[in-house]
Amino acid sequence: MEILLHQDYLAQALSSREDSGVMHLCNTRRCKGWVASTTISSLMQQLTKENRKKVKTLLDQLSVVTPTPGDLVEALKDECFEEKLALILVRSCGFDAVVSESPEKFSSDDVPVFTSEQLESKINEPLDPVSKVKLLDIPASYHQILNDAENEIAETIRTGQFILGSKVTELEEKIADYCQTTFAVGVSSGTDALLISLMAAGIGKGDEVITSPYTFFATVGSIIRVGAKPVFVDINDVTFNMKAEHIERCITSKTRAIMPVHLYGQCADMDPIRDLAKKHNLTVIEDAAQSIGSEYKNKKAGSLGDMGCFSFFPAKNLGAFGDGGIVTTSSEELYEKLKVLRMHGSKPKYYHKTIGGNFRLDALQAGIVKAKLDYLEDWTKKRRQNSTIYNQLLQQNALTQYIQLPPEVFPRHVFNQYVIRIGNRRDELRSFLNENNIGCEIYYPLPLHTQECFQSLGYIKGDFPESEKAADETLALPISHEISREQQEYVVENIRRFFLGD
Ligand SMILES: Cc1ncc(COP(=O)(O)O)c(C=O)c1O
Repeated sequence: MEILLHQDYLAQALSSREDSGVMHLCNTRRCKGWVASTTISSLMQQLTKENRKKVKTLLDQLSVVTPTPGDLVEALKDECFEEKLALILVRSCGFDAVVSESPEKFSSDDVPVFTSEQLESKINEPLDPVSKVKLLDIPASYHQILNDAENEIAETIRTGQFILGSKVTELEEKIADYCQTTFAVGVSSGTDALLISLMAAGIGKGDEVITSPYTFFATVGSIIRVGAKPVFVDINDVTFNMKAEHIERCITSKTRAIMPVHLYGQCADMDPIRDLAKKHNLTVIEDAAQSIGSEYKNKKAGSLGDMGCFSFFPAKNLGAFGDGGIVTTSSEELYEKLKVLRMHGSKPKYYHKTIGGNFRLDALQAGIVKAKLDYLEDWTKKRRQNSTIYNQLLQQNALTQYIQLPPEVFPRHVFNQYVIRIGNRRDELRSFLNENNIGCEIYYPLPLHTQECFQSLGYIKGDFPESEKAADETLALPISHEISREQQEYVVENIRRFFLGD
């Protein structure tokens, strides 16, 4: 539960000699307590010198939420400014309740206002049964990172350094360290990470790049945008990643690179890919957009090829508050090229020996991603636990006779998606889950060789049977770190109802 502690409650708690019940609930993580930044200044004025010293300790146990100027203007319209502001903050930030010494001062039909005792008994009540699970609930984790993210945003706004600058450099260093590479170059999106990597590798007209047809559009779109030709290799039916043993037969004198995709959060089988690349002198560009933190033989995605491309799209395991991406590399030569290409190919400024583009990452997004990176390992652990819970629940309910679970072939899988396979009843199951308020999605309904815009490549339906089958049979279930065990039980209970009836 996320609760906003009202000024009267905090003033009382700070003056009392006894331990506050609500603070105990916050410290034992049974709920998360918030205080409005405006409340802190009023408290400081009210308190005795002795009690003021306690505010710092209090703030160590709470998170601070800062009202927007709009919130303040709205609250000023009401005679009871403090109470009105509390209600506005609870509604706009998605908190669950206000805790106050005098709930009767609040006039609200939609926001619960509890005394400390009422909150305690509410928390001890059994939870309401789950009736809805979103595929993704991005604002849910916003609560956890709000303070860190807002600090980053405020610092950027105050310095006015919006494009590249120290925030981007700090993020690049942190990501390179996290991904076990020497360098990283922040760019405007995952798509641009792919595009700029191909450009840095000097790939263009007449060249061929081997990749998977079962991926997000950007993988193949970027190859075509540099003027090269994508050459597809079908996927392994268990990992959904490129079948390494099919690659060599696709290598021609025009082949310049292999672009494996670490789909859903699990690395492609990289050893044979790297061996082939070495043998044929090819560049390896990892499309790791969905796989930050995933590993292959104890090495991190992004360090397994010449360049690794990541996306900070908000739905990714490490998402920005908008678009963003990054390229990792341990080659100094590629690093220098990437930096120049990111700025229209300009070096020194306004002198262009090559043509690049505006692929810059903005400082606001870099700061937010940097703040979130500190939480990534915990979130990844939670995603991995969620996948184990699904596996157990689906097995215990005898559903594995209808469903193929996503196996972890190369630890560690980071489960950007938890994707099950359901033979020919996939679309029916999807509708059934949607009718029961469960978000689920198909990634991706059309393999890329069958997309209309790629017809000129000359592929036809039937060329890549495993990719086509996967597109017809797979379904992603909610897996993000925010979901609870009860929500997972609700998902599996509905899958059980679908296959086995009530
Ligand atoms: C496999 C893959 N490649 C590339 C991208 C492109 O990333 P972005 O959306 O940041 O441009 C995505 C994003 O969905 C992706 O999943």
